[in-house]
Amino acid sequence: MPTAVITGANRGLGLEFTRVYLAEGWTVHAGCRHPTKADALRKLKGDLHIHPLDVDDPKDAKALAKSLGSEPVDLLLNNAGIFGKRDVPLGSLDYGEFEQVLKTNVVAPMRLAEALIENVAHSKQKKMAFVTSRMGSITMNAGRQIPYRTSKTALNMAVSCLAIELRPRAVTCLLLHPGWVKTDMGGSGAAIEIPDSIAGMKKVIDKVSLDDSGKFYDYQGQAIPW
Ligand SMILES: NC(=O)c1ccc[n+]([C@@H]2O[C@H](COP(=O)([O-])OP(=O)(O)OC[C@H]3O[C@@H](n4cnc5c(N)ncnc54)[C@H](OP(=O)(O)O)[C@@H]3O)[C@@H](O)[C@H]2O)c1
Repeated sequence: MPTAVITGANRGLGLEFTRVYLAEGWTVHAGCRHPTKADALRKLKGDLHIHPLDVDDPKDAKALAKSLGSEPVDLLLNNAGIFGKRDVPLGSLDYGEFEQVLKTNVVAPMRLAEALIENVAHSKQKKMAFVTSRMGSITMNAGRQIPYRTSKTALNMAVSCLAIELRPRAVTCLLLHPGWVKTDMGGSGAAIEIPDSIAGMKKVIDKVSLDDSGKFYDYQGQAIPW
């Protein structure tokens, strides 16, 4: 059976991704900041390996790569992300937090992608999926939430470059918008239930081929304008 690495696996979208892949019989290497506190994750059944992974910490990414060794990774799912403070008016932006949002949402997924390139390139499916957001679309921009929007736009560019660089190695790199989902980040007023978002994104991940590499899709498989 195939193998996935999933970040931010202790709650929200990452937890459901992990549950669904395990239920299909995949081996899942699930990363989270505090494994001993990840009760919901630890309760999941299947071939689950939990790794301490603060995606901001280069040492953790290195340790994960080391513990995987040459194990093929069919799917790297870079899911972990933060929003930062909401609705901060212009004139009051917190630049420390702005840097943190860029670090977690852009630098960290790139670092992990680089660390695991060989594992993915030596797998059967050779896929990397990055959970981005429609809020990173410049075409659809409605303003506000500058750090988060900027981070997802930057992630989109980083993954577009990665897709070009990895095409000769037949690695498919995908950008996925989960919809507005009822997680801690999306809030209880969000439009979509977690299982519906994950089922949709999984269908897109299953279906894509190298021709889709570098594309930006929502959870229903619709292309999103840059
Ligand atoms: N929900 C939505 O409506 C929505 C819409 C568009 C895009 N997204 C994207 O979907 C992804 C998942 O979001 P979600 O809705 O599931 O959010 P969430 O419920 O807030 O969960 C975020 C996850 O990311 C983890 N995380 C944050 N910083 C981390 C770090 N430095 N190292 C390791 N893990 C870290 C969290 O771990 P801790 O528990 O340790 O904090 C948690 O597991 C994010 O990339 C988000 O931007 C969500």
